[in-house]
Amino acid sequence: MDIKLDREYLKGFITQNDYKNLMPAIEKAHRDLENRTGKGAEFTGWLDLPRKMEDAVLDELTAFGQEIRDHADCLLSIGIGGSYVGIHASLEFLISDQKLPVYFAGHNLSSGYLYHLLNTLKDKRLTVVVISKSGTTTEPALAFRIIKQFMKEKYMPEELKKRIICITDPKKGALRSIANKEGYRTFPINDDVGGRFSVLTPAGLVPLAIAGIDVKGLIQGARKAQDQCSMMDLSKNIAYQYAAARYLLYTQGKTIEVLSTFYQRMSLVEEWWKQLFGESEGKDGKGVFPTSLSFTTDLHSMGQLIQEGQRNIFETFLIAEDSGHECIIPYDEDNVDAFNCVAGKDLDYVNKQAYKATAMAHFEGGVPNMTITIPRFDARTLGQLYYFFEKAVAIKGYLLGVNPFDQPGVEAYKNKMFALLGR
Ligand code: PA5
Repeated sequence: MDIKLDREYLKGFITQNDYKNLMPAIEKAHRDLENRTGKGAEFTGWLDLPRKMEDAVLDELTAFGQEIRDHADCLLSIGIGGSYVGIHASLEFLISDQKLPVYFAGHNLSSGYLYHLLNTLKDKRLTVVVISKSGTTTEPALAFRIIKQFMKEKYMPEELKKRIICITDPKKGALRSIANKEGYRTFPINDDVGGRFSVLTPAGLVPLAIAGIDVKGLIQGARKAQDQCSMMDLSKNIAYQYAAARYLLYTQGKTIEVLSTFYQRMSLVEEWWKQLFGESEGKDGKGVFPTSLSFTTDLHSMGQLIQEGQRNIFETFLIAEDSGHECIIPYDEDNVDAFNCVAGKDLDYVNKQAYKATAMAHFEGGVPNMTITIPRFDARTLGQLYYFFEKAVAIKGYLLGVNPFDQPGVEAYKNKMFALLGR
């Protein structure tokens, strides 16, 4: 595995004996997941998806992406939750690889946002991708209504058909019915994969292929993680190490996990992680509250609370060995700011010292922490990272005794909103 997990700053909080005592529960969670005998087993299609996905399908998707790019200035991706955040996170992470600008809609109900977006898009050659697994979610459904009208005013019917792509359930849902009726191109979302686990299905891969992202690389990385995160040996399986540490910290009252990155390109991966972990664990009165920070920016705001606030927090740092681009700090004759000590060095050198200092200071302040290090910002690494987190949350959910693959609580607000809307 190219991704590394460092647990040095858990010392004094978790002992080798704690891991040893947890082993029978980890082994049971492992068996339940791999044999599909645990809770929510019908939604574990993501587990062997990378190895099942054929290269030929990925090549077709890549060619399809090129075909769309030949006739578009930009892509508008409509969707929310699992049908949105992974796409946006991938584009931010892989910003250097993106070949087509991508805009997003349907992830909020803000009129102002949509008004300004459509204004920006009015003179551009536009392709629209609507993603909704259920095909019935309010936010993307309403955005699509408005955008469909905008597209109808912009394009003749035959051209319109080529410019709207629907990704949804193969048989049911309103979006499927609309696509069938209007003759829009469609891609199916796997039945056995929940929204938050769907970034490596057509829900994520189709818009990413259109944006010019190396979708084959993403899946190749996920395949590698699939192999390595399937091993029962705790000393070799970092997904299980991460799940076990999170569980043991939770049993000590560390009920908040802060995922802190020192790299802007991972701030939306943190958002993706929040949905994955929050929706998977937060049920039956249980679950770690996942939150995230962007350092060093947030060290100047939330740093105080982490260093000296209530000791119910643990932290996971997300850092990169290679930041991707150099930015050398110049030598200054006057040296008024006294920073000639780092003249000639890359800014990332300072960033890495900031990380080391923060991890040490927070540990000494009573915040146990781990570090996930990725080697670089490429598609393979991102595919690995996604699969690593998916596997970790599944095992952690089983350790907690919850079904990590459902989200019954999400319905509560919807039912009340529908009542208010008279729907
Ligand atoms: O993880 C989930 O299931 C949710 O966040 C969904 O992804 C989100 O509600 C969007 O659902 P849909 O794709 O059905 O429109």
